[in-house]
Amino acid sequence: MSASDSEDVATSPTHVGIIMDGNGRWARARGSNRLAGHKQGAEVARNVVRWAKELGVRQISLYAFSTENWERPKLEVRGLMSLLAILLPKTLPEMMDNEVRFRTLGDISPLPTSARKAVEQACEETANNTGIDLILCLNYGGQQEILAAVKQTLQWAQSMPDEQQALATLNPEQFRQLMWRHDIAPLDLLIRTGGEMRISNFHLWDAAYAELYFSDVYWPDFSKEDLQLALDEYASRERRYGQTSEQVKHE
Ligand code: IPE
Ligand code: IPE
Ligand code: MG
Repeated sequence: MSASDSEDVATSPTHVGIIMDGNGRWARARGSNRLAGHKQGAEVARNVVRWAKELGVRQISLYAFSTENWERPKLEVRGLMSLLAILLPKTLPEMMDNEVRFRTLGDISPLPTSARKAVEQACEETANNTGIDLILCLNYGGQQEILAAVKQTLQWAQSMPDEQQALATLNPEQFRQLMWRHDIAPLDLLIRTGGEMRISNFHLWDAAYAELYFSDVYWPDFSKEDLQLALDEYASRERRYGQTSEQVKHE
């Protein structure tokens, strides 16, 4: 590894989240159907995990299906779920080779059985891998995650000796412990491909202080160089968390 490589790794974000957008437009530009775009997008998703690991990222979360994506045409939803059920088992050997620990974020219970089984199998078989965490966000919504944590909080408070006191003194760090993401590192870098500038209900809680990066590249065209560009941009940012630049430099 060269000196510049190790420097790059040293400034790498721990957790990168990607809104993989632009599959449909990529396909349309080629006169193909949307599912062809999703297929090519799935190839890139496979590769990006390896690239992220090589570039020193510890956790990568990929937005594969939002809570709102159920509203898409039935054929497209079915196609996306079949892709998951077919491709995930095929990708397992590669995940084992690259020491990828696979897990999900979101409520997978409404997924078709074949997709859910593939997900559960990938979670089980890769559970002891330590190379990089791949967090596939499936039927994920940031608002839904926060709402689930609120319900969890009420239950937690009821189990405390003084319920009112527990609720009155609850802070954001404790609240995060009650969220689905409690054992995931805070999001450092949020990348969205495909040119749109919105968060679309992804990682809302941690979007508070994640660095945002928007790329015009359609997801199926996203390359290792594009990921490197995003990481270079991240390395040049100053994360101030409300402090002044002088304070941050001093620390
Ligand atoms: C993102 O690409 C993939 C999913 C939401 C599953 P899109 O399918 O949203 O692609 P565009 O935005 O229509 O180009
Ligand atoms: C966000 O993309 C969801 C995923 C990438 C899975 P969308 O294409 O669904 O987002 P909107 O509808 O343009 O906001
Ligand atoms: Mg889209």
